[in-house]
Amino acid sequence: MFAEECETAADLSTELGLGVGLFQAGTNLFLNGMVLATMFLGGHLMSTGQMSAGDVMAFLVNAQTIQRSVAQISLLFGSVVKGVSAGGRVFEYINKEPVMDTSGTKIVKYHEFHGDIEFKNVTFSYPSRPEAVVLKNFNLKIPAGKTVAIIGSSGNGKSTIAALLERFYDVNEGSVAIDGIDVRDMDGKWLRGRALGFISQEPVLFATSVRENIRYGKPDATDEEIYEAAKTANADEFIRKFPAGYETLVGERGMSLSGGQKQRIAIARAVLKNPPVMILDEATSALDASSEREVQRALERASKGRTVLVIAHRLSTIINADLIVVLHRGSIVEMGTHDQLKKQKGHYWNLIKQQDQGADDSRSL
Ligand SMILES: Nc1ncnc2c1ncn2[C@@H]1O[C@H](COP(=O)(O)OP(=O)(O)OP(=O)(O)O)[C@@H](O)[C@H]1O
Ligand SMILES: [Mg+2]
Repeated sequence: MFAEECETAADLSTELGLGVGLFQAGTNLFLNGMVLATMFLGGHLMSTGQMSAGDVMAFLVNAQTIQRSVAQISLLFGSVVKGVSAGGRVFEYINKEPVMDTSGTKIVKYHEFHGDIEFKNVTFSYPSRPEAVVLKNFNLKIPAGKTVAIIGSSGNGKSTIAALLERFYDVNEGSVAIDGIDVRDMDGKWLRGRALGFISQEPVLFATSVRENIRYGKPDATDEEIYEAAKTANADEFIRKFPAGYETLVGERGMSLSGGQKQRIAIARAVLKNPPVMILDEATSALDASSEREVQRALERASKGRTVLVIAHRLSTIINADLIVVLHRGSIVEMGTHDQLKKQKGHYWNLIKQQDQGADDSRSL
């Protein structure tokens, strides 16, 4: 398929080259024809004695000046066409109107901000798949300063909860509120830039240096602050082991880093931002035991003194949470602490039992 697409691109380029060639040939023919015509006509007028040789020369020099100018215009025209088509793509993004209403302006002052989160009767389905309801009458209160873990098997809507809190999508019914203010009334820039820190399941890194990737959390941070954040995220050590240290280029989407390293850089970024509310969508499943522990320690340090919503895939994170919420098909089926839920022998018990078995399997391997 790739070869076919390349072939098509090559054909189109050939066509374009042919067009450009014909255009330039045409203009050249025209421009040189101008000189030729001047010489021919001038020669004729000179031979019949209607014009002096000096006049013909003067005319010829002027005609050549014009010819050069017109040739410049034809080159310029080519650049304009290229510029307009390249600019078109940029302006398409600049002029894009967001689908959701972004007129909210409410912000909470830093020292008045608590971080109480409340999902009230939330019903939600993705706009691209309206018939599949992901959350149904979902209610959840996260008190300020507490850690709430959400667990449930894959595809149950855990990441969706994080996306709604960040307001990547608007709810269909109900409301999501922080400190009693609906997120739809909040200033989106402030909400995502200052209030919430989000470490997503697939950390997004940019094709630049490690330092710049961390700085993304707070654009005006000093180098000292960046090192401090990296230390908290357990990342400083491995970054300094790279030959280029903090200047190491991470490649497109961070492909020259391991999964655990990428995640710790994402954690450092969130720590640097220092938000009152932290959302962690764990993706420790791809990590081996030792890097998992590294990431785990980094997360623990990063979540001190904040309201934390953690989407947990690992038992180690869940045990210490103040409240555990078990999600099944978009609704909460169980809620409580680790000990309470274990006694109930319900969904939670089943989930952790499966994990224990998984651990046994890997041990026996
Ligand atoms: N952008 C999207 N458009 C349409 N449907 C989506 C979109 N993102 C997720 N879904 C669907 O919503 C449901 C919940 O997805 P979600 O990502 O919240 O699952 P999850 O609980 O985080 O799973 P995992 O544990 O694998 O991360 C899934 O059925 C998924 O197919
Ligand atoms: Mg998820």
